[in-house]
Order: sequence, then structure tokens, then C-alpha cells
Amino acid sequence: MSPFLLTRTLPEDATDAALRADVLKGLTSTPKTLPPKWFYDAQGSELFEKITELPEYYPTRAEREILVGRAGEIAAATGARTLVELGSGSSEKTRYVIDALTGLHTYVPVDVSESALTQAGQALAGERPGLDVHALIADFTGGLVLPQTPGPRLVAFLGGTIGNLLPAERAAFLASVRALLSPGDALLLGTDLVKDERVLVEAYDDAAGVTAAFNKNVLTVINRELGADFDPGAFEHVALWDADHEWIEMRLRSRTAQTVKVPALDLAVHFAAGEEMRTEVSAKFRRDGVRAELAAAGLELAHWWTDGADRFALSLSVAR
Ligand SMILES: C[S@@+](CC[C@H](N)C(=O)[O-])C[C@H]1O[C@@H](n2cnc3c(N)ncnc32)[C@H](O)[C@@H]1O
Repeated sequence: MSPFLLTRTLPEDATDAALRADVLKGLTSTPKTLPPKWFYDAQGSELFEKITELPEYYPTRAEREILVGRAGEIAAATGARTLVELGSGSSEKTRYVIDALTGLHTYVPVDVSESALTQAGQALAGERPGLDVHALIADFTGGLVLPQTPGPRLVAFLGGTIGNLLPAERAAFLASVRALLSPGDALLLGTDLVKDERVLVEAYDDAAGVTAAFNKNVLTVINRELGADFDPGAFEHVALWDADHEWIEMRLRSRTAQTVKVPALDLAVHFAAGEEMRTEVSAKFRRDGVRAELAAAGLELAHWWTDGADRFALSLSVAR
């Protein structure tokens, strides 16, 4: 068994303060919004894993296909001794990269979900003797401080999670990732690609209703953490394609006119019948756009790999 260390860089009261601030801001905005990072308590992380297995949800399978085919090239191009993974979740696909990186010394999974980090980190430490696993409970959008580990460093951000950030947030995020890289380090980025609207919408509105349950889980989190009285059954899951922004939007639509109380914020929030609250955007990308966003952050696209059906892309970029 290798060493497994779990570090909380966010004190629990900071997480609580961030949730309060986000919910207060989001529920008092017009239109109302909630940021996607609050989906991921233990139940939300489990639901996300179920989503990755749905027939409609192609991104995980497409990205896995690329990783299976390209892990050797990724290892040869980077020679990484430290692999940092942002929003690592179950770390399931990452195993292909870990196995290919023969000189890997430390794996640093970073996530807001303590349950996902503990499960994945402990399993990896058990399976990979000689690999240090140093998991960080942290928000990847907020001034990440990484442990001192041997270079070169490869930062992986898989699953198309970058699409959950709005364009200005993405620019700030990529600049912060660039600041973590020294010469010889690299970023491995998974981006879902623009494609047929029907395929995209079905991926976020599956027949079995798992994505709907995932979407409503944010209401359960707010009920538990802030004493709110959201009735998840009084909201309907909505997924739509915004062709102008080239992103999928997930929303929760109020089935009736209702008032929800959030005692921890001393707040009563009115929803009109049919009112929609945005809970996630998932931007879809094109190669030129990814190249330009990377370049704006001081990163140079070195490799671009897609799956056989051109649904998803993995890019490897280096600090300029
Ligand atoms: C869409 S899932 C992807 C999981 C995994 N990388 C994959 O490809 O299957 C997003 C992951 O990022 C985590 N996450 C979301 N927002 C985060 C944030 N601001 N900081 C750290 N982790 C975050 C979630 O807990 C979840 O594990």
C-alpha cells in the first residue's frame, strides 16, 4: 500500500461561507442561478458516476477511447513525475495516464468532493505500490497551492469540466493553471466538441432521469446545509442547447408559483410558475477556440487528439 494523504485546503467553515455567498447571490439574481460545484456532495458524486455510464452520455466513453489510444504518447511527451488532476472525481479514466507514466512519483487529485477523493485516492494508493497519492480538498477556481513534489508536472483537467466555467471564468482559470506550470510542464485538457443538437441535449436529459436527479440534488444540498425547504418534486429538469453561446444549459423550472425559505440566509425566495433557474452551463468547443483560449493564457497547443467519431478532444499544451 502506497502513502495516501488527504489535505483540506478549504476549512469547512470556508466551504460553508462560500455556499452561503453563492446561494444568496444566485437566488437573489435575475434570472436566478446556482453554481454547479454544489451538485457534488456524496450523493451528487455518485449520481455523476451513474451519468457517465448512461447510453446517452457519450463524453466519458469518447474521452476514455482517446486516453486508451494516446496514453503512451502523453507519457512520452511529458515524462511527468507529478500528475495533478483538477476535478478528479472517481479518477477512473486517469488510470490510463497513471499506468503509462512509468516514472510517476506523486498523483495529486484535487476535488471539492471529499467522498470522491477518499474513495478514489485510497483505491489508487492500494493498487499502485510506490505511487504517493496526495489528495487535496480544494476549489480549483480559487488560488490552488500545490504540494512540493518532483517535476516535470502534468496538470490534467478531464471530463469536459472546463465547459462548466463561463468564458471570463475560463480565462481566469487557464491563467491560474499556467501559473502552476514551469518550463517542461504541461496541461492535458478534455473538451467536449460542438455537434448535433439532439445528441447534445439527450446527453443532458437521459431517458432514465439520472441527470434530472443529479440536477435536483443541488436543492437537497441547500436544504441540508442551509435548512431550506425546497421540494425537489416541485421543480422540473430542463436541458437546452444555446446555439449562440454554443453551450448546453441545465435549468430547474418551477412547476408552480411557490415561495422557498432559506433560514440560514434569512431569505424567502419567490418562484413564478414556469420560472427557470440556471444550474449549469456546459460549453462545447472547436479546435480554433481552444487554441485561442490556451494562447491567451500563455499556453501553446502541442497535440490535439479526438475520438474516432470526433465527439470529444484531448489537448496537450505547454507553457510558452
Ligand atoms: C463533471 S465531473 C468530472 C469528473 C471526472 N474528472 C471525469 O472526467 O469523469 C466534475 C468534477 O469536478 C469537481 N468539481 C466541480 N467544481 C469544482 C471546483 N470548483 N473545484 C474543485 N472540484 C470541482 C466535482 O466534484 C466533480 O468530481
